[in-house]
Amino acid sequence: MHLKIAILAGDGIGPEVTNEAVNVLTTVANARGDVFEYVPLLIGGVAITEHGTPLPPETLQQTLSCDAALLGAVGDNKFNHLPPSERPEAGLLQIRAALGGFANLRPAIAYTALADNSPLRPEITASADILFVRELLGGLYFGEPRAWDKAANRAHNTMAYTRDEVERVARIAFDLATKRRNKLTSVDKANVLETSQLWRAVVNEVARDYPSVTVEHQYVDAMAIHLMTRPRDFDVVLTENLFGDILSDESGVITGSLGMLPSATLGGKVNLYEPVHGSAPDIAGTGKANPIGAILTAAMLLRHSANMEAAARLIDDAVTEALNQGYRTTDIAHGNIAGQTTLSTTEMGALILSKLEAALETTSINDQGAAQ
Ligand code: IPM
Ligand code: MN
Repeated sequence: MHLKIAILAGDGIGPEVTNEAVNVLTTVANARGDVFEYVPLLIGGVAITEHGTPLPPETLQQTLSCDAALLGAVGDNKFNHLPPSERPEAGLLQIRAALGGFANLRPAIAYTALADNSPLRPEITASADILFVRELLGGLYFGEPRAWDKAANRAHNTMAYTRDEVERVARIAFDLATKRRNKLTSVDKANVLETSQLWRAVVNEVARDYPSVTVEHQYVDAMAIHLMTRPRDFDVVLTENLFGDILSDESGVITGSLGMLPSATLGGKVNLYEPVHGSAPDIAGTGKANPIGAILTAAMLLRHSANMEAAARLIDDAVTEALNQGYRTTDIAHGNIAGQTTLSTTEMGALILSKLEAALETTSINDQGAAQ
């Protein structure tokens, strides 16, 4: 198999964590006798510096010719003075829109090994396993009109959804729920917002096609509490764009760190894979970045864009093993717990890689597992 992957490393810690993810992909390709072709492309602040725009046409055009896109992170404080439409983040929003993926899958898992690293008590998080499905192309991020009228001292954004936009992401979330624990929690603010009332009505309609799935609706403010007090009660959590952005960051607490969380965006021309964390400019270049979010993102890429479930599982397992043996990056090393070793970004990447290589020697990953 020949897989062409756009590498959009971006800003801050983006290149550091993406490197570790690419090493993992290459190891899988070599073990299978496949060729993964990487196409490095500029996006975000580095693209502004080089080409004056956060998404150069070349980047978009090349990405559209790839089988999948792996992104690190975008964002750089030196562009904070620019309006949203010219900042590094605009490059990410533009490529999301152009690729067309509307369903952003953000799993949040409580690793047993990290039970003492989460600020939540172990009995609260134990075996929590949530899959956020965040709508990615609608809501406040893209709604028009939007503007900051400086003369009038007034700014506005628009939250808008159509029935079809809600239905297509809801169907993906329900499908995923049937492959998990058959529970779906839809998040909205239907006590205040018309978009949420539409959202809730459409989710209820789609639910009729999935009789095996139990559906509940939660207001987003209440959900923010429930995630911290009873995360184990949730399976698939379906949200609109901004609510999903906020709640998925919050769910980093369940896992122990935002640096652990991967994501996959499905449903468009080219699937886009990116860790949930940002560019973390404060720790860029210090070796403190956690590469696990990016490495688990690579596993999602293999699972959803290459039908390589077996390889994806070996990567997930290599991460779990490294954590079980007490290896930590700075973000998940709270409190000097005995038996733990703190590693740098590249050390953690190399350790996971060595575990993956060992597993590849004894496990065949050439049978392609079920993927979706
Ligand atoms: C994320 C990020 C992005 C978002 C930013 C960088 C535009 O926070 O992927 O969660 O808000 O979607
Ligand atoms: Mn975010």
